[in-house]
Amino acid sequence: MTIEKPAITDSPLHPPIAQRWSPRLYDSDHELSEAELAALGEAFRWAPSSNNQQPWQVVFLSRGSEKFNAIAERGLTGFNQTWAPSASAFAVVLAAKTHEGKDREQAGTYFDVGLASSQLVMQAQSMGLYSHFMGGIIPDEISRIIGDESHWVVCVITVGVQGELESAESAIQDRERTPRARKSSGEVYKINP
Ligand SMILES: Cc1cc2nc3c(=O)[nH]c(=O)nc-3n(C[C@H](O)[C@H](O)[C@H](O)COP(=O)(O)O)c2cc1C
Repeated sequence: MTIEKPAITDSPLHPPIAQRWSPRLYDSDHELSEAELAALGEAFRWAPSSNNQQPWQVVFLSRGSEKFNAIAERGLTGFNQTWAPSASAFAVVLAAKTHEGKDREQAGTYFDVGLASSQLVMQAQSMGLYSHFMGGIIPDEISRIIGDESHWVVCVITVGVQGELESAESAIQDRERTPRARKSSGEVYKINP
């Protein structure tokens, strides 16, 4: 059984937006094909960016590969170390440090990279895959593992399919079943105030 936790909204949403949530229980036998990873890369690639500078890259690492294992062992912090290694792949999200030889401003660059990352996870959801962003990482270690010093490591996104809930410990089942919560609509958006 997989868990669905659709967003509770007053307006109907595009299904991948409503259905996406961040699981921590992945099927550790599931593998993603290169075509599926390429589709996620294409969704990332076609995001909008300031002046179309596209200050980004994403590196996909399949579970079991040398670099995936290195990140699982040395690149994650805290609780992420326990659940993330079961995902089918890591998407290492990178932001360019420079543009035409000049240092980039980090905040604006990260804004663009966030847009591209959002497209990636929406594409994943539309393909029946789940994803989970991780900021609890060790960026310098991940830079060394992937051998890239010209980008900031922004985050790692796990991608895969949900694991079997019934075979997990009850504490994990409870954690996965915890309802999603959001601020009220009035706190987040105003229409013609
Ligand atoms: C930039 C970013 C970093 C995050 N870092 C972590 C993380 O290190 N570990 C984790 O378990 N969840 C992490 N999350 C997931 C959030 O906790 C999660 O998206 C939030 O609680 C909302 O839950 P939902 O995605 O299921 O709607 C991160 C999310 C984002 C967007």
